[in-house]
Amino acid sequence: MIVGIPKELMPEELRVAATPKTVTRLIKQGFEVLIEKGAGERSNYADATFTNMGAKLVGSAKELYQSANIILKVQAPTQEEIALMNEGTVTLSYLWPAQNKDLLKILAEKKINAIAMDAIPRISRAQKMDVLSSMANIAGYRSVIEGANHFGRFLNGQITAAGKVEPAKVLVIGAGVAGLAAIGAAHSLGAIVRAFDTRKEVAEQIASMGAEFLTVDIEEDGSTDSGYSKVMSQAFIDAEMALFKKQAGEVDIIITTAQIPGREAPKLILEDHIAAMKPGSVIVDLAASTGGNCVLTKPNEIYTTENGVTILGKVSQLPSQASQLYGNNLCHLLDDMGKAENFKIDMDDDVVKRAMVTYNGTINWPPEPLPVSPAKPKATVEDTQALKKAKAEQKAKKKARSSAIGLVVVGLLLVGMGQVAPSDFMGHFSVFVLAVFVGWQVIWNVTHALHTPLMAVTNAISGIIIIGGLLQMQTDWSNPMTILAFIAVFVASINIVGGFFVTHRMLKMFRK
Ligand code: NAI
Repeated sequence: MIVGIPKELMPEELRVAATPKTVTRLIKQGFEVLIEKGAGERSNYADATFTNMGAKLVGSAKELYQSANIILKVQAPTQEEIALMNEGTVTLSYLWPAQNKDLLKILAEKKINAIAMDAIPRISRAQKMDVLSSMANIAGYRSVIEGANHFGRFLNGQITAAGKVEPAKVLVIGAGVAGLAAIGAAHSLGAIVRAFDTRKEVAEQIASMGAEFLTVDIEEDGSTDSGYSKVMSQAFIDAEMALFKKQAGEVDIIITTAQIPGREAPKLILEDHIAAMKPGSVIVDLAASTGGNCVLTKPNEIYTTENGVTILGKVSQLPSQASQLYGNNLCHLLDDMGKAENFKIDMDDDVVKRAMVTYNGTINWPPEPLPVSPAKPKATVEDTQALKKAKAEQKAKKKARSSAIGLVVVGLLLVGMGQVAPSDFMGHFSVFVLAVFVGWQVIWNVTHALHTPLMAVTNAISGIIIIGGLLQMQTDWSNPMTILAFIAVFVASINIVGGFFVTHRMLKMFRK
């Protein structure tokens, strides 16, 4: 079977559907690989890098389309490209089927079996083929880097000899794949990050990436079984607008990623929000290609408004890395479809039947829905807090009971020993028991974060024990005092050496 990779026609498209690495993988899968001359140029892959891996170079798109059984592309094929294809060709590319009904008709008429890579269902098994996720991750990271580049200040806070610098504040709207990547990047650069999403289930993910989850005072959740957000009520959108108005005056960079599949992006940043922003602030609109979340976004343009706010309607695609990840996604799908030897269009397969939008001359869109994950029982915040409180109370009761039993047993033992042992032994022994008790209480109640300073203190105590032990040691090994002193010196030495060892390992973690 022959796989063909044509040059992308759209001038703004810098990616290519294969890289030298993915060509190696396609050949391993048993495919013969044809690539159009200059296909990888815009993503910095020279023709020779493909031929070195075993691909064959072809001089024209016509030759490529007429020889290949499977076409790998980034952008949807144009009418001219479809005209060059043979009937029954399988194509893998972006298609945006909900917005491109006419294109589906043309593909079906030509009996092209077209897979829309943007329609791969968002189930765990298909994550490795999910181009929306792999590309959104790049866009999210890049939005922070480019936003920071247009923002004329540090992102992190600093205390320098010359004075204190406040950290920048970043607001991320929409915490899906791109939004979470943006939160991670902004947080790692030291900014204070806030985030908002209509789906309440992302609250934990937002917190774990280091941002504060902003909420509105309306009991409505955007989550759906598909994993995407639904269109929210007007009351919710109004409350969201009021929240953003307040935030706009406070934050320095706003990154918007909010999308509803198959629809124009919701307009969330209005003119009065932009007017409230400080001069020098930046808006990065990652939804620009679907109409933008900001009313003043100009797709594929970067410009500054009269009040000094820079609005980015595009971010770089990082073409060579994006091509690599996109190419990997395609290879994973071809793996699943049986590679070259057993290549099969299995319309019973959950992924293929939903992504194959035209098949044998028929349009297969919209697909039957497939939930991202089984619906989880919805425990309220109050339920969860009450459960946690009950568990903590139960644990405290158990602890109190076992300490009381321990004290009674120790008390009885002391009384029993007091009947037989000499009185000065009992004095020393009582001090020893009390020291063990106090030591236990002190060490067990120290939080984990403070274990390192605690180690320094215990090292000092161990040092005192060693001196005491050495003073008590005599040459007579039959004397129990010598044996006890030896054990004390030995155990304290372990503590000191172990303390240094652990401290050394911890310091190593901070060295680059
Ligand atoms: P997306 O690009 O369609 O939307 C981005 C975000 O915008 C979403 O989190 C959405 O809730 C939010 N949004 C929509 N309207 C909004 C509004 N009015 N205000 C604020 N935020 C709004 O979605 P994306 O990032 O492609 O994926 C969404 C979810 O799908 C992920 O968080 C994940 O749960 C799920 N997913 C599952 C995958 C899998 O299991 N294979 C792969 C990727 C995503």
